[in-house]
Amino acid sequence: MPRDSASVFTASAPDFQRALLAWYRASARALPWRESPSLYKTVVSEFMLQQTQVKTVLPYFARWLDALPNFAALAAAPESRVLKLWEGLGYYSRARNLHKLAQQLNALPAEPRTPAEWRELPGVGPYTAAAITSISFSAPAACVDGNVVRVLARLTAEATEFRDSASAAKVFTPLAEAILTVESPGDHNQAMMELGATVCFRQNPLCLTCPVRVFCAGVRTGEPESFPRLAAKKMEQRSVVRVWCERRGALLLHRAEAGARRFANIHELPTPEQASLDPKNAVRGPLLATKRRGITRFQITESIHEVAAPRGKTPAGAVWVRVAELNDVTLSGPHRRWITEILQRETARAIKSSAPAEPRRATSRLSRRRPSDADRTPA
Ligand code: ADE
Repeated sequence: MPRDSASVFTASAPDFQRALLAWYRASARALPWRESPSLYKTVVSEFMLQQTQVKTVLPYFARWLDALPNFAALAAAPESRVLKLWEGLGYYSRARNLHKLAQQLNALPAEPRTPAEWRELPGVGPYTAAAITSISFSAPAACVDGNVVRVLARLTAEATEFRDSASAAKVFTPLAEAILTVESPGDHNQAMMELGATVCFRQNPLCLTCPVRVFCAGVRTGEPESFPRLAAKKMEQRSVVRVWCERRGALLLHRAEAGARRFANIHELPTPEQASLDPKNAVRGPLLATKRRGITRFQITESIHEVAAPRGKTPAGAVWVRVAELNDVTLSGPHRRWITEILQRETARAIKSSAPAEPRRATSRLSRRRPSDADRTPA
């Protein structure tokens, strides 16, 4: 990073800090982890916010706090309950790490208070350690995430092109530390995040009302949106076939094994291989849906084909789940949306075509009570 832009900005740090903190204290969003804060609320919110926006996290945070109000309750909960509460937030390793962290914290004689100690705990990287310890213990540690990178890159009009946001975060960390308000590091860090999340948007930043506009070299260039300069991501295309196998009111799902690195114990529509079906035959089945999503550097197209159930034993790793009991298992977020959509469409079609007394696959079954014994899951 060129010394001049960063050092010009660093020289004005005391005025910048005052303007930033005054704005934050007057205008910060009233978020539930900021009201009567506790270490537990801070840790849970920081884990949830690692790859997820505040508005998505809010309902999850409320449900979580109701169900598991403290570290002891979390440590004692079975993993299936923890994953169920996390369902839909994605990146499930966060939930598993948070669970393990609560168990490890409970076993310690005293709460760790420094970033280095927190980084020893599962799922805690430099950003999360700085966030937790600055907010809960006033540790003088600066948080640098994608939002903060954007704010700092604009304040300094940093012209370097970075490979990605993570490598930019490493380069900006010394500057973030140099301008940290050491008397209030928690508020300072949250103010930087807040500025990135509510004013210094990636596109159409609100420069006219920005509380630190006078310090911003980016706005003086006339093109603040052009910072940070990040190399275009090269996306790889991937195709995945999934099968929709229904038999006697139950759907075949794949459940990743307990030790799997990603998605352990989480259910998804199976690939043909996971359902012990021939992939060539599977794609001949009626196409129920085509879904596209981006995961890291992959652009994935998933096509869901309806196929006949595999013969013989239930394939290893697969389970039959009654449609009426889908709410009782943890599905990955996109799969729950796709399954709900397919069931809804089929219900609508069934009603339209013949208005049968009992539609074959009623969506309402997703939330219906358990079926009677006469209506059991097939073997
Ligand atoms: N993102 C990460 N941590 C946050 C916090 N404490 N407040 C708002 N957004 C955040």
